[in-house]
Amino acid sequence: MTRIDESSDGRRVTVSVRGLVKHYGETKALDGVDLDVREGTVMGVLGPNGAGKTTLVRILSTLITPDAGEAMVAGYDVVRQPRQLRRVIGLTGQYASVDEKLPGWENLYMIGRLLDLSRKDARARADELLERFSLTDAAKRPASTYSGGMRRRLDLAASMIGRPQVLFLDEPTTGLDPRTRNEVWDEVKAMVGEGVTVLLTTQYMEEAEQLASELTVVDRGKVVAAGRIEELKARVGGRTLRIRPVDPLQLGPLAAMLDELGITGLATTTVDRENNTLLVPILSDEQLTAVVGAVTARGITISSIVTELPSLDEVFLSLTGHRASAPQDITPADSDSDAREEVAV
Ligand SMILES: Nc1ncnc2c1ncn2[C@@H]1O[C@H](COP(=O)(O)OP(=O)(O)O)[C@@H](O)[C@H]1O
Ligand SMILES: [Mg+2]
Repeated sequence: MTRIDESSDGRRVTVSVRGLVKHYGETKALDGVDLDVREGTVMGVLGPNGAGKTTLVRILSTLITPDAGEAMVAGYDVVRQPRQLRRVIGLTGQYASVDEKLPGWENLYMIGRLLDLSRKDARARADELLERFSLTDAAKRPASTYSGGMRRRLDLAASMIGRPQVLFLDEPTTGLDPRTRNEVWDEVKAMVGEGVTVLLTTQYMEEAEQLASELTVVDRGKVVAAGRIEELKARVGGRTLRIRPVDPLQLGPLAAMLDELGITGLATTTVDRENNTLLVPILSDEQLTAVVGAVTARGITISSIVTELPSLDEVFLSLTGHRASAPQDITPADSDSDAREEVAV
């Protein structure tokens, strides 16, 4: 069997998944999933409820076995080498994994001991991680008294005890308020900074954008899109050009001129008075060039010009035909093209 161990940028592939299948009766939780996570990077696995995210994380962390396909983590096969594999991974499940009755410190100490650390090392590691996740003050209190954010931080600390090479985070911020979510993001970023390879599942586009460099979009057990986040957004097609003339009085004439020229086809430009910018929908680099050329030809001085890609929400809608946040509103498959047009225009 041949296996590609290096990706195009030379980074080693740390997590490799090929044709992974897991059925529960009639439900195809995973229906042939492929993905690669490169060493030291964050792969976001984005999908609505029921997409198969937790099933994937459970297989990769050896909690369940696949029906077909294969998966390697840090060089170990999930089915044939589960014991070796468990030693190099950390897992933060979708639901809290700590013992609520025990204080934060005890939880971490106990996990350290379970991982074969000596009493001294387990103690030191618990202290160090509580400090690191800003939980030192709450060290002696039962975890049941912690806020949602503190609990999540304790979960993350627990998953770091064994100094994992690979970390699986299953919906790490679901149910957290925005401020706490930001705290968790900062912690994840810090872990990545230490060289940990992360596979993170999420239902939040913003979370994937914040943390992941690559994205695998899953829907009903299948990969519906994959690639670098920027590439995926570009694939949807539509972009908006945001132009700011030095003189705000030029906004109106500029909009009229661009509409008259018809460079952007049927789509019309809009004036954003609040920001003194002009929003021009474009579909191609040629249109972008033509717009810039037209503005320059009129001698209008512009202070900034940026292109904005569509949000991941729009990406998901156009790729799957339904919004990620409302999996129950499943639209017929043939409505896909309508959704794509909506986003592009
Ligand atoms: N133990 C199980 N028994 C039966 N069905 C399951 C089980 N685990 C998951 N499923 C089903 O598999 C599908 C994928 O579930 P899951 O992996 O939990 O999705 P996600 O984490 O993306 O919400 C869902 O339809 C779910 O109901
Ligand atoms: Mg889940």
